[in-house]
Amino acid sequence: MQEMLAICSGMDAVTLQPVAGAQGEFTAIRCIQEYHRSRGDNRRDKVIVPDSAHGTNPASASMCGYQIIEIPSASDGRLDMDALRAAVGDDTAAMMITNPSTMGLFETNIAEASQIVHEAGGQMYYDGANFNAIIGKTDPGRMGFDAVHYNLHKTFSQPHGGGGPGSGPIGVNEHLSEFLPTPIASRRQSQEGEPNGVGDGFYYFWQDVGDNSIGKVQQWNGNAGAVVRAWAFYRRYGRDLEKMSEHAVLNSNYLRHKIMNPEPDVADKINCMPSEGSEADLVMHEFTLSMSPVKEVNGVTGKDVAKRLLDYGYMSPTLYFPQIVPECLMIEPTETESKEVLDKFAADFHAVLSEDPEILTTAPHTTPVKRVDEVWAARNLILRHPGNDED
Ligand SMILES: Cc1ncc(COP(=O)(O)O)c(C=O)c1O
Repeated sequence: MQEMLAICSGMDAVTLQPVAGAQGEFTAIRCIQEYHRSRGDNRRDKVIVPDSAHGTNPASASMCGYQIIEIPSASDGRLDMDALRAAVGDDTAAMMITNPSTMGLFETNIAEASQIVHEAGGQMYYDGANFNAIIGKTDPGRMGFDAVHYNLHKTFSQPHGGGGPGSGPIGVNEHLSEFLPTPIASRRQSQEGEPNGVGDGFYYFWQDVGDNSIGKVQQWNGNAGAVVRAWAFYRRYGRDLEKMSEHAVLNSNYLRHKIMNPEPDVADKINCMPSEGSEADLVMHEFTLSMSPVKEVNGVTGKDVAKRLLDYGYMSPTLYFPQIVPECLMIEPTETESKEVLDKFAADFHAVLSEDPEILTTAPHTTPVKRVDEVWAARNLILRHPGNDED
């Protein structure tokens, strides 16, 4: 699996140890930090992230002790190159970015961005949460990245939800490999009399990464169950893996078009950003909708729509993220959904928007737990099930 991930991402070495994307981010940024330190380059204390980034990016970098420099997106939703040039300096440790972005837009200036950061001595970090949009078409290595995380539980067939269990391996280029968590899986041609468990002529062993390793980031050596399932998925697709990204992108564009072409009574309640017909006529594997129009019409919020979708049997799309889209719903159908499911979802989405606002603002109605007071829940944590008081 290490070798397969290295190939599809254009990296040199991979560890399977981190068990979530966020932990992969932390691990890779720590490797980058040790790389700078090993060169005596100690003045780099800043990590640049675009404002469309997932919250885990700034969180991971700040857990490593870095100061975060957020740069705004340009008016088309993509990376603002002037803002990047202004932010980069000899204090830049790294830039973290996902491509395509969380707006579902491919960053067409990514090679130039890599060049700008590298010329200043910084490293490029690829947040691989959206890797399923580009696999087989291009790879982070070609875009100029030095390190990447892969969300096996998203790109390689594992559902993402309910908190895992996940797997967030990282890949790095040669110059960062001595800092990877130890140990990594290794293999060599097996010799006479050596155990050869999988019968492929190789002897497998755990290899110590060496004195410069950042150490272990997980009790064991990763989340084996998730890795094995993802391995099976990858082996099944083989070189056809790019078909997965093609279907993910096709499904996303089909669904966006379906949702954005409703009956006239719904049309004024919904916006997609960037809008259909704009320069970004095609999106990648996901797209964002703004529920601001419906809020203006009848006071219904993005959250109300998301809660009501639970009553229709859907796990709600990502809500209020990316934050640069007001009243945002971010929809990512993935490659697995059929045309029938996409058609039904679009029809149900329109049905929700046509309902009496009262039904939405009090939703969900059919789930075992009704609308919860999230602020109260966050302020008054109850960490034990009431039945377990004695334990
Ligand atoms: C763009 C992006 N980056 C990072 C992450 C973090 O991944 P994980 O949830 O596996 O920690 C996510 C998760 O949804 C994401 O969407």
